[in-house]
Amino acid sequence: MTNMAPTVEIDTAIFNDAYYPYLSDMTPLQIFYGGSSSGKSVFTVGQRTIFDVMQGGRNYLITRQVGRTIRNSVFNEILKVIADWGVGSLFNPNKSDMVITCSNGYQILFAGLDDTEKLKSITPAKGVITDIVVEEATECELASIKQLEKRLRGGSESVPKRINFLFNPILQNHWIYKNYFAMLGWSDTQKEYHSDEISILKTTYKDNRFLTSQDVQRLENETDKYYYDVYTLGNWGVLGQVIFKNWKVEDLSQMHDQFTDRRNGLDFGFSSDPAASPRTHYDKKHKTIYIYDELYETGLTNPQLAARLLEMHGKDRIVCDSAEPKSVKELNDCKVFATSAKKGKDSVNFGIQWLQQQTIIVDKKCINMQNELSMYKWKEDAGGNALPIPVDKNNHLIEALRYAYEDDSLANYLTTVEDPFTDW
Ligand SMILES: Nc1ncnc2c1ncn2[C@@H]1O[C@H](COP(=O)(O)OP(=O)(O)O)[C@@H](O)[C@H]1O
Ligand SMILES: [Mg+2]
Repeated sequence: MTNMAPTVEIDTAIFNDAYYPYLSDMTPLQIFYGGSSSGKSVFTVGQRTIFDVMQGGRNYLITRQVGRTIRNSVFNEILKVIADWGVGSLFNPNKSDMVITCSNGYQILFAGLDDTEKLKSITPAKGVITDIVVEEATECELASIKQLEKRLRGGSESVPKRINFLFNPILQNHWIYKNYFAMLGWSDTQKEYHSDEISILKTTYKDNRFLTSQDVQRLENETDKYYYDVYTLGNWGVLGQVIFKNWKVEDLSQMHDQFTDRRNGLDFGFSSDPAASPRTHYDKKHKTIYIYDELYETGLTNPQLAARLLEMHGKDRIVCDSAEPKSVKELNDCKVFATSAKKGKDSVNFGIQWLQQQTIIVDKKCINMQNELSMYKWKEDAGGNALPIPVDKNNHLIEALRYAYEDDSLANYLTTVEDPFTDW
């Protein structure tokens, strides 16, 4: 820390205490994980980045799996810190090229790990990339991270380099746990770890003194055991009763021509929830659903959403959440063939049960669908017993998938059992 005498004067009160020591910590691999709203992103994506770039000598690459989610997440997060600190006159943000340049020439660059071409060629105007921040690192594949690390360490410059992972500890069988935590014999009671190579900092909402009491209430009132463990306490997740086990991931990129029997759905969202739409093909004979594209994005107005849907689905029918007839109408006005789902009594559990009877194959690029399918679970009581109620979280694409297959599942409903819940 001694060689880092800051030229930027800063009031330490703007940082959460747990993170402050990391402002000038140069450990090459830094892991910031834990519960939600613990201040990970504000510090690691926002504050430290701006601080370093203003001081000069460091260029950042901020990345996450899906490039098109960057604009509405990490990019805005950084703009917010620039505004909060009143240093707007020092920065030139370019939203179309996704780069923020400081008046000293140092830069913050952005790219999705799914944009391999851009990643290969991305270079700052001055010097080299010294820092990589991987937001929501649990979304990423190990291979892409290895590739990133190789790039970072490649240069011969003498400045210390860092790669940072930020995430919620969604599943203990994740490669991040296997690669970085298992060999440490990591325990959920540990808060910090330090070696020359790696640092780990676990935080929860309790480490973030900027939260409102409403935020705190929301986290403390979580009734589902898994969500409480992971998002409130920041402990490594162990899933109890996952709903879908009948799915696998494949590379479907060469099969699009065969996908002629399409079923598409849409779940509306705007600020905190994403608009979510899977593109799928149904092989009815083999009861196999192929999910080969997805839209999953927050902050889209209906005309913007319409443009995205037309790009992805063309003139295909899209079955939408019936709770928003006005939005369906607006999509129609923009030439999207959107219709409203019928829903009806017990449609959620019935739709789920029908989907459970299919084989679901998800393209490897549909990360959000994979996440939702792996996390969607039955509600558990405090004792960990499953209840016949799905947890209404992380289910935007899954809801849309239910709408997409409503006709198929309802046809089944009318011709088969009287009471589809005999299992319960
Ligand atoms: N240093 C800070 N100064 C002001 N507000 C903060 C600070 N750190 C966190 N916050 C507030 O807490 C919220 C949650 O923090 P965030 O970094 O997004 O959490 P995480 O990434 O751990 O989920 C932010 O949206 C912001 O309102
Ligand atoms: Mg975050």
